[in-house]
Amino acid sequence: MTNTHQHNDTAEQERQQQYILRCGEYVRKFRLRRGRAPLALVKTFGCQMNERDSEKLRGILSAAGYELTDREDADLVVYNTCTVRENANLKVYGRLGYLGGLKKKNPDMHIVLCGCMMQEETVVEKIRSSYSFVDLIFGTHNIWKFAQLLCEMYEKGGMTVDIWKDTDQVVEDLPAQRTYSFKSGVNIMYGCNNFCTYCIVPYVRGRERSRAPKDILREIERLCDDGVVEVMLLGQNVNSYGKTLDVPVSFAQLLQEVEKIDGLQRIRFMTSHPKDLSEDLIRVMSESKKICPHLHLPLQSGSSRLLKRMNRHYTKESYLDLCSRLRQQVPGLSLTTDIIVGFPGETEEDFQETMDVVRRVRYDSAFTFIYSKRTGTPAASYPDQVPEEIVHDRFDRLLALVQEIGREQAMRLEGETRTVLAEHVNEQDPSLVTGRLANNMVVHFPADPSVIGTILPVRLDECKGFYYLGTPCIESQVDFG
Ligand code: 5AD
Ligand code: SF4
Repeated sequence: MTNTHQHNDTAEQERQQQYILRCGEYVRKFRLRRGRAPLALVKTFGCQMNERDSEKLRGILSAAGYELTDREDADLVVYNTCTVRENANLKVYGRLGYLGGLKKKNPDMHIVLCGCMMQEETVVEKIRSSYSFVDLIFGTHNIWKFAQLLCEMYEKGGMTVDIWKDTDQVVEDLPAQRTYSFKSGVNIMYGCNNFCTYCIVPYVRGRERSRAPKDILREIERLCDDGVVEVMLLGQNVNSYGKTLDVPVSFAQLLQEVEKIDGLQRIRFMTSHPKDLSEDLIRVMSESKKICPHLHLPLQSGSSRLLKRMNRHYTKESYLDLCSRLRQQVPGLSLTTDIIVGFPGETEEDFQETMDVVRRVRYDSAFTFIYSKRTGTPAASYPDQVPEEIVHDRFDRLLALVQEIGREQAMRLEGETRTVLAEHVNEQDPSLVTGRLANNMVVHFPADPSVIGTILPVRLDECKGFYYLGTPCIESQVDFG
């Protein structure tokens, strides 16, 4: 499929701006009645893609005049949901019961649900029947319509539901309210075509759609003009970026263009699929001054037999080979991963293959997940589901190994000086500032909050397992030798 239907829909964008003004009317009336602006909370469940979507929702709300808050007793509560594992859904149902109680006390309160979980029909049915106090439900494909949907919600009353099954539309340039002034996620593609047999994402996020390079570059240029120094390029599978564009562009080529943007200092990206990681990308990473030496490379399982059943299109051997080529060509590379334990049919031998890969690759950190059966995915109907006690036992063993190796890996940099992007005042100790190394590890160091948003050299005095305590270096004291 080409993306000839995909367009930067400026007419739609203008319509949505009109709806933002119309929401502003509601805000004005609320102010007159209550003597204050309506408070709005946008709470995110799930991944960085959802975080970025939430920034867009907040952008629309604040353009309409809402005051953003972290409090759940707000006048408008938006849950941007995740459904990748069953417990993400359970969390939302649990919180909804609590919100229902709050709504009884505040008749002005409106509750909005959106995101991946809403793309499942059974979820929407359950909300209609058990949580009928919810005011608005929409999905992942029409998030740019948020202002319009809010107007409908206020004007119609009852429950407004608008879920699209899929889309080929990409509406650009709606306002976004960034969580950080100095770093930002940037979507480069939406959806996923891989259909790993355990995964619900392709069903709820739809087919892969890449944004045009010029739109991505323009967005990043504007962000940099506005003080951003670090971007995270986001997609379910960034390595297949650009394949469906009218004029195909590779992810490696896109990175080379992003690198040229003035003012931008750090480039990150997420997530890479091992099957699509090209030699070109490795070369571009090794030559780049801005791409962070960090790669999140989901393994899922170390067993070639299970990888086949997962539809991952690589083997244990090809994955290991890829990691060793990466390590050779990108000095100081930090590798992180995702691993699923208890995929249907997993034997102790399969599990040992996973442990073996962890020992050989030596990840800096790994997200470990217990397999969660997602209705509608092929693996949900595989007959040989693994008993819970066995899965838990394997999970504990894997976690112990991942943590042990993670701690050892972190020690590598103790005593060295590295550049750190200062991100926020430390929550526990306000005399410290917390930042991140290029490899994504966290560092706490004594500094004035005025350094926040800048990149500065910090000596990594002590490794505390998963973070460092450090001291900022004044230029003359830095010993890079
Ligand atoms: N069960 C457990 N983990 C899953 N993931 C995706 N689907 C499932 C599932 N059904 C994990 C994968 C993926 C990460 C985002 O979530 O490891 O890389
Ligand atoms: Fe899910 Fe696989 Fe797509 Fe990742 S690549 S979102 S695990 S289907």
